Amino acid sequence: MTFSSVKYGVAPEEERADIKILCDEYRKYNHIDPSAFDRYGVKRGLRNADGTGVMAGITNICNVHGYVMDEGEKAPIDGELIYRGINVEKLIEGCEKEDRYGYEEAVWLLLFGNLPTKTQLADFTSLLAHMRELPDTFTEDMILKAPSPNIMNKLARSVLALYSYDEDADDCSLENVLRQSVELIARMPTIMVSAYQVKRRFYDHKSMYFHPPKAHHSIAQTILYTMRSDKTFTEEEAKLLDKCMILHAEHGGGNNSTFATRVLTSSGTDTYSAIAAGIGSLKGPLHGGANAKVMHMMDCIKENVKDWKNDDEVAEYLAKLIRKECGDLSGKIYGMGHAVYTKSDPRARILKENALKLAQNTEFIDEFMLLDSVERLAPQVLSAVKGEKKIICANVDLYSGMVYKMLRIPPELYTPLFASSRIGGWCAHRVEELITGGRIIRPAYKAVSKDCEYIPLNER
Ligand code: COA
Repeated sequence: MTFSSVKYGVAPEEERADIKILCDEYRKYNHIDPSAFDRYGVKRGLRNADGTGVMAGITNICNVHGYVMDEGEKAPIDGELIYRGINVEKLIEGCEKEDRYGYEEAVWLLLFGNLPTKTQLADFTSLLAHMRELPDTFTEDMILKAPSPNIMNKLARSVLALYSYDEDADDCSLENVLRQSVELIARMPTIMVSAYQVKRRFYDHKSMYFHPPKAHHSIAQTILYTMRSDKTFTEEEAKLLDKCMILHAEHGGGNNSTFATRVLTSSGTDTYSAIAAGIGSLKGPLHGGANAKVMHMMDCIKENVKDWKNDDEVAEYLAKLIRKECGDLSGKIYGMGHAVYTKSDPRARILKENALKLAQNTEFIDEFMLLDSVERLAPQVLSAVKGEKKIICANVDLYSGMVYKMLRIPPELYTPLFASSRIGGWCAHRVEELITGGRIIRPAYKAVSKDCEYIPLNER
């Protein structure tokens, strides 16, 4: 059997049969009894019995506060997200009061640990603007010549490719990693928009646009300016995108993509490898990829539920989703549930408020109300269908796609926008791991395989 003729994932008939044989062979020898996890005290998903995460590190960067322990039991509370000791809601309020952009300030705070002075912020903002250009010929060689239908895949490959354009790629000193971090934070949106334009041309057969960015624009303004064919945007739109970016910038050391970044960092590998791993993780539908999944799920609900205002009909469809009878058959209600938050996710609260403001008196209001119904009904349906006792709330991904949709941002950019914001957090954690970690992250796996004899080939 050869795999060389399996093109673009579509295998010819006889190869599909061969692959089925391989799968059968795999299944025969690769069962692990789920009860083994309890028997050996293995913390599946690195979770304790009460659902809390196994403590894997110490950080100064962020606190994700979702419950309090009361007499040994988790007591639900409204969630809080705290960057370097400052509640993200206060950070956003501060920028709103002064009517200015805040993502650059949030990145400074996350990276360096303190709010920037006026001069520091102005200098840092202009440094980021200066660094957003990609290296000479990078766009032609790495983005135009090797497009991808998936922008997250293109982001990861482009970040890895930047290694070859960096004379000090492997140097893990603070000076060098901070330089690489600032460059990556500045360049990620440029790569995202360029990859999107190329995807439009190659896969969607539409025109692509490469507008040179304006030096005085913030990161959020630059994204809207370079993404849209006519370069136009309103201040309200850019400020809302900026707010979304602040909310997505960081989420503690234990979230899957940040932990992946820290795991790779702890091995002493280069910045590009560590950040590409974070992007790969964020792409997953249980993590950042959930924002695009929510929109697909909503399309299914809209198609199959006749009366969106009828709770019984919506609940029945949600039950079918959980029973894996429709949608993507995963059994998930995307945008609901969280590993840490219980009563509420502060990011969802803020995004919902903003989504409602945008949707009011527009054609989007019915869709917003449908999302609101999903949020309201999902916990009781989950409990009725699966007997799930855990309190689940809407997470950041339930309303972010709706906000992006109203900002006329295409769905293929929803998760890449998350990555272009979270790059700030990933870099802060990489630097912290390098400076304070000091030991390769290396958990253990309990081996349950039985000993067997090696049998010579002609005797098998
Ligand atoms: N839809 C269906 N079932 C859900 C669910 C959801 N949104 N959220 C939790 N559950 C189920 C889980 O599948 C699990 O059941 P299982 O033991 O049969 O697998 C049970 O409830 C307990 O899961 P929990 O401990 O709350 O979740 P977790 O910490 O393992 O996972 C998420 C957290 C976020 C991955 C999970 O809630 C989820 O899959 N949500 C949907 C995807 C999503 O929106 N991701 C974005 C996160 S910001």
